[in-house]
Formats: sequence, C-alpha cells, structure tokens
Amino acid sequence: MSKAKYTVTAALPYANGPLHLGHVAGVYLPADIFVRFLRMNNHDVAFICGSDEHGAAITLRAKKEGITPQEIVDKYNSIISKAFTDFDISFDIFHRTSSEIHHKTSQDFFLKLYEKGKFTEETSEQYYDEEYEQFLADRYITGECPKCQNPSAYGDQCEKCGSDLSPTELINPTSTLSGKTPVLRTTSHWYLPMANHEDWLREWIKEGKLDGIQQHDPKPWRNQVIGQCMSWIDGGLHSRAMTRDLDWGVKVPLPNAEGKVLYVWLDAPIGYISATKQYALDNNKNWEDYWTGDRKLIHFIGKDNIVFHAVIFPILLKDHGNLILPDNVPAYEFLNLEGDKFSTSRNWAVWLHEYLEAYPGREDELKYVLTSIAPETKDSEFTWKEYQTRINSELADILGNFVNRALVLTQKYYEGKVPERGELTEEDQLVLAEINEIPKRISKLVYAYKLRDAQAEAMNLARLGNKYLADQEPWKVVKIDPKRVETVMNIALQITANLSVVLQPFLPATAAKLSNFLNFKSTNWEDAGNGDLMKVGDQTNTPEILFQKIEDSLVDEEVNKLKNTDNMESKFEVQKEEVTFDDFTKMDIRLGTILEAEKVEKADKLLKLLVDTGLDKRTIVSGIAEHYSPEEIIGKTVQVLMNLAPRKIKGIESKGMILMAEDADGNLSFMSPEKGFEAGCGIH
Ligand code: MF3
Ligand code: ZN
Repeated sequence: MSKAKYTVTAALPYANGPLHLGHVAGVYLPADIFVRFLRMNNHDVAFICGSDEHGAAITLRAKKEGITPQEIVDKYNSIISKAFTDFDISFDIFHRTSSEIHHKTSQDFFLKLYEKGKFTEETSEQYYDEEYEQFLADRYITGECPKCQNPSAYGDQCEKCGSDLSPTELINPTSTLSGKTPVLRTTSHWYLPMANHEDWLREWIKEGKLDGIQQHDPKPWRNQVIGQCMSWIDGGLHSRAMTRDLDWGVKVPLPNAEGKVLYVWLDAPIGYISATKQYALDNNKNWEDYWTGDRKLIHFIGKDNIVFHAVIFPILLKDHGNLILPDNVPAYEFLNLEGDKFSTSRNWAVWLHEYLEAYPGREDELKYVLTSIAPETKDSEFTWKEYQTRINSELADILGNFVNRALVLTQKYYEGKVPERGELTEEDQLVLAEINEIPKRISKLVYAYKLRDAQAEAMNLARLGNKYLADQEPWKVVKIDPKRVETVMNIALQITANLSVVLQPFLPATAAKLSNFLNFKSTNWEDAGNGDLMKVGDQTNTPEILFQKIEDSLVDEEVNKLKNTDNMESKFEVQKEEVTFDDFTKMDIRLGTILEAEKVEKADKLLKLLVDTGLDKRTIVSGIAEHYSPEEIIGKTVQVLMNLAPRKIKGIESKGMILMAEDADGNLSFMSPEKGFEAGCGIH
C-alpha cells in the first residue's frame, strides 16, 4: 500500500498583532510536530500557512494605530513570519492573502460558485455611518447587549456573556468610527444558502461518509469538534452573506459590485489554496495534486475556528467541486496564562517574538513545555513556574542527564568508541524490547493527533535510559566487571541514538545536537526502534550540556513583568500613536466659563452651551446631557479645545469642544481648574 499523502494547514493568523504562546501551543506547534513526523515517515506532505490580511480585524487595528491597513499587515506579517522562522516552524510556505495570486484565486473561486448558481442575492438593511459614508462591519458597531446589558458589546458578539449577536439586536448602537448612532440602509449581498447541506454534513462529520463512501478517517474527529458542529447544524444552518461593504479586501468580481469585497471568512480559507499555488509555482509542482484525488487535507485550528473549517469551508469546497474535503480538523482549546485569559488589550500575554529575543537557543525548551501542556481536550494553562519545573526536572534531569552520562562515560572508558555488546541480561532484553515498542506507540498517538501523549512517550525513552544507567551503575561495576559495562554502555548509546530519531518531530534542535554528539543521523522513522543503530567502534564526541536549568529569578522576573503591565488602566484604550511637540502645540486649549446651557431638541445626549472663552462668546454643542443637567453647569469653568474645525450638529454650528474625562463605563466629568483661574487662560 502506498503511503497516504497529506496537505496540512495551520490557521492563517490575522496580521493584526504578534503571536502569543496561546496561538503557538494550540495551532502551530502541534501542526509542525505532526508534519515533521509525516516527513520522517516518507509521506508526501505540504505544510501550508500564511497571514490573514483582510477583514475588520485589520482595519480596526489600523484605525487604532493610526496607520493604513496595508501598513498594518506589512508590519505584523513580518513580525509573525520572522517569529515562525526563528522558532523553526517548518512551513513549506508562509504566504499572504494580500498577494495578487490570492486575490485572483479567491475571485475565481467566487465566480465559479456564482456561475454554478450557488449564491443567492439578498437585500437587507444594515447599519451605515452617515458621517463616514460607509456601511459598518459588525465589529464597527457597539451597543448594549440585549442579553446581559453589557454596555460595550460588539455587533457580532458580546464578550461579556459570549452571546452571538447581530448588529440590529444591540440596544443604542453606536458607530465606532464617528461615535454616532448609525442609520439603517438597504444594501444587497451574495449569500451562501446552507440549509440544504445539513444532511450530508451530519453524516460526513460524524461518520466520515460522503455520498455513502468512506471519505475521511473512520476514526472519529475530536469530540468538541463534532459537538460544536452538531449543535450549530441542529440550530439550523442559515444563509450567510459572503460579501461585505468594505474597501479593504478582495473585490467582488462582478459588475455593479462597487465597494463590495469578499467576506473574510470566504477569502481566508481559500488562502490555503492560493498559498499552495504559490508553493507549487516555486517548486515546480502542480497545485492540484495537493487539493484533489487521494490525499488527506488536515486543518489545525483553534476552537473559535471550528465552524468555519468543519462546516462552511467544506460546503464551499463541495459546491465548488473537484476539491477534497478535510480528513480531520484537529481543533485546540484555549491556553490560559498565569490564571487568566491571554489578552492583547491588557497585554496579559507572552509574545513569541519577545520570548525568542530574550532566550535565544531555548526554542526547544519552549516547544517541550507547550506540547506538555497543549490544550488538546480542554483549556490549559501556562505558568512560568511550570516552565521552570518541566525544564529543570524533565528536560535537564532526565533527558539531559541521561545523554550526558552515556556520552561522558563512553569518552572516559572507551575514548568515545562504541563498545561491544556481550551477553544480555533480562534487564537488557527488556530495555531493548522497550526501545522497539516506544516508537510504535508514539506513531499511533501522532496519527491520532495526541501529540501531548506522543511527546511524553518519547520522553519515556529518556526516562528508561536514565533508570537503566542508575540501576546498572556502570561507574561502580567498571571496577569489578568491565566487560559487563561494555554491554551496558552499548545499550545506553543505542537509546541515545534512538532518542535522536524519536525526538526530531518534537525537539528538532535537541535531536540535531544528539546526532552531532553521536556522529549518527537518521531522518527515517523506520530506524526508530532498532537496538543496533550504533555500530561497535563508531566514534562519538564529548557532549555539551543540553539544557541549562532555569533559575527562580527568571520566573520572578517574567511574572513581575506580566503583573506590572496588567494594571488597572488596562480596561482603558491603549495609548495613542506618538505625536511631536509641534503637533501638540497646534491645539489651542483654554479655560472657558459656561454662561448658558440648554437641551438640544430631539437629541438625548446633547446640550447647547454658550461659553465665555476670554476671547469671545461662542456656541459649543456637547454630548454631556446624560451626565449634567443644564442648571448645574452654568458658571462652571472648563477646558475648551478652541481651534477644532467648526461642525454642524443637529443644525447648530458648534465651534470647539469641551474636554472631558471619561471612565471605562463611559461616565464623564469636566476638568475644572483650581480657584483663581479664569476664562481665557491657556492650557499647555
Ligand atoms: N485569521 C483567523 C483567526 O486567527 C483564522 C483564519 S483561518 C482561515 O482566527 F482558514 F480562514 F484561513
Ligand atoms: Zn452579553
């Protein structure tokens, strides 16, 4: 039987921020281990990834950082791809969805479905920001959650209670662009009907059968993947818009589709295909070979991506025709950090690129720890304390100690040459049997996507070696029975050689070091299990220490670093972009005294003020009516931004703006001076 062929993808990370350890532990590292293992087993495999560069995730970030979406994706794509390279994640290609080949591929994909009549065109009312003259993506609308009354839910989701929402459900919706109430406007989009797909999806997801034919591995998918899909399907699959009114993304390739782009969850997974096309071009291959015929497509993803990869993309692939559907969708739960969720806005995170900069040469240590705690079946947690313990008492004390002993004693007794094996004791035979069994167990576990257990099994080989030497005590026996020690050391070296093979998928740099120590290298998994890899007389080298122990001070420093950045202010917006002193001095800010105040008709939030600025008396419309009544503010001296361009608000010309402090709940307060400062005083 020929070896199964694989196309393995890892979720395209949004190019809107760097990667943290949660992403690594729950997608990229397991995918990399799996692929390295496949390669060692001579499977034909392509390992595909790239940056996801469209959607509101990008444009929102651009707005926050005050730069263009293109600048955002360029910036984060380079941070992310460098981190992957430095961490030695072995993608065959790391591509970008902003590339031309991707735009073309996803437009062709869309057109094919369009021409096959797979979309319906539907008109609906969506929120529109009149000031910015654009429709608002779900994430651009905030408002009160109808379920839990959280005042700052998003148009697609409430992060407080976790409900999925649609923008029109929000109470008091506000545009995050203008801060105004958006209006409903009619727009038309292309929708993907999904209800007619429910039946085949059920059978395919649960039993792996498509049209009665066994497709994917009959071994069931992870429970949480099946569970999420089934509850989604059981809730009824509604049509989903595949286009958006946005100017950032892949343009809809149809006439009369001005200002419309493909929905990011349509174009992003097609990114797997376009990346494969680029890979094929670069390597003189046919991309179709990776997406058709007898080949397993495997998507490594986080659990928030399940329905997109196990329901929506498969529907798209099937509607398209001639393309394979995923064989498995190994989805990971979430990794927490020191007792709390990873959070970009609170900077509660360990960033991969920062770790790599701070601890060069310790990539395998991080890989080991992250695989040991990978959130395979439930959420798990990274702590620096556990990082230390796993490295010190597992990597250093077991693996490092064993390898060091085996090689140092070989130097000492035999000038580094592999000694002969004499008669075998029962213990020797048991050890050799284990050497043979362990790779088989690892193999089973890897094919079942149980990489955490697989790594533990590989470590069992080191554990076995460590125990073997401790039991045999060659350093004692050498004085009474040197012949026996030759056998023991021969077996210890066989274990070391086997470690250099079985550790490769998990700890590639460490495995390479072992190979250098031994002058032995095999990248073929079939060699694992062989108790005769090292031949008598082979020359080995003096080893170096494999793993430095982690000091308490490192743990303290890292934990303090986290605690210091995660302060109370974190619930507020992040600091804005830097400005020059000149930028600042352009603002004319002064004290002004409120002379008159009255409500603005048909506007709950607005007060019309007459303000004495020391230079003039001017009208300013201010959104403070929910916080102050007109009576209580007359006579107050407040801060005024004088040279803000005049604006018409509800038909009233407003000249300038009152500066207010705002807390995280949206409460407002004037910032009034101490007594003795009067209208007209400048503020610098
Ligand atoms: N960018 C998405 C995320 O980080 C994942 C996209 S996966 C793809 O959640 F399939 F759409 F590419
Ligand atoms: Zn809620």
